[in-house]
Amino acid sequence: MTRILGIETSCDETSASVIEGAGDDVAMRSLVILSQDVHRVFGGVVPEIASRQHLTAIVPVVTRALDDAGATLETIDAIAVTHAPGLVGALLVGVSFAKALAFGRGIPCLGVHHMEGHLFGTALEHADALPPFTALLVSGGHTMIVDVPEWGRYELLGRTRDDAAGEAFDKVAKLLGLPYPGGPHVERLAATGDPSRFRFARPMLRRDQQPGDAEYYDLSFSGLKTAVLNAVHGATPEDHPHIARAFHDAIVETLVEKTARAVAQRGRTRVVLGGGVAGNRTLVAAMRARMKRHHAEVFAPSARIATDNAAMIARAGLFHLERGMRSPLDLNAFASLPLPGLVSA
Ligand code: KG4
Ligand code: ZN
Repeated sequence: MTRILGIETSCDETSASVIEGAGDDVAMRSLVILSQDVHRVFGGVVPEIASRQHLTAIVPVVTRALDDAGATLETIDAIAVTHAPGLVGALLVGVSFAKALAFGRGIPCLGVHHMEGHLFGTALEHADALPPFTALLVSGGHTMIVDVPEWGRYELLGRTRDDAAGEAFDKVAKLLGLPYPGGPHVERLAATGDPSRFRFARPMLRRDQQPGDAEYYDLSFSGLKTAVLNAVHGATPEDHPHIARAFHDAIVETLVEKTARAVAQRGRTRVVLGGGVAGNRTLVAAMRARMKRHHAEVFAPSARIATDNAAMIARAGLFHLERGMRSPLDLNAFASLPLPGLVSA
């Protein structure tokens, strides 16, 4: 039984968590997520402010996570910390703090890739969200369709060519005058819209695409965002729910169809969703309905685990710890970094 402290500071959430377990038998003992509300007044994350707020919050957040778990630093076996990708200044707060704590205690410190954290996160809530599976990772910074034959082996089938899915939600929210982060607001507004009033083309989704084409799995959302922009310019505020609905329908259908292609091609019977946009209930329902045809089960995290959190980082860290990984003391933070364990087809 190993007990891990996870730390996540890649964007605008300061989070710490204690998990314990072995292999895929893992229990979350605590999870603290402090969201930085300050960015709302700027309509997006201001990196310098994010770093400062992480600095202020990191000690109380970690202390609280240890207390909630009934743990002390002396009973922690290893520390896992997000070291990439994300805002470098924000990441560095978590990385420096984790390294200092681990060095002081003489325990291992492990740098974890944020998107690998999202891959593992869903398993914290669903014991069967285990490989082999097809994953759809949809966050504010990334959008990927990944085939996962086993933990640590990831085949990137498709990715966005431009904006991430969450970014598209946030930009469309701005166009519609909704607050940041926009995803949940757009989802709610879209639910009140009439689906027959507006229609946007499904981006990069055509029937004649073949499995060998890069566009078969790849995604693109910037054209959709421009289509929304044009629609908003020619419309009245009463049309906003209908525009939100048309946008929502287009993005959900595209994500679901491309994921279905991956499931069919790889013959997977499990689909794991991860990342902030996986908290979208409309997307999850559409994915479940579509996957019935493939007899594939869909596992989606709760909004709390979909969003950035340290428990998923600790969970991925445990896997690497058990495989003997230890990060050196010069572990650094990186704004972008390929997912570790990427294999080609
Ligand atoms: O994974 P995450 O918390 O942070 C990143 O790693 O980027 O994802 C945040 C993104 C934001 O763009 C937010 O608008 C989006 O997830 N999001 C949603 C929903 N909840 C959060 N997008 C659509 N529908 C939602 N219900
Ligand atoms: Zn994330």
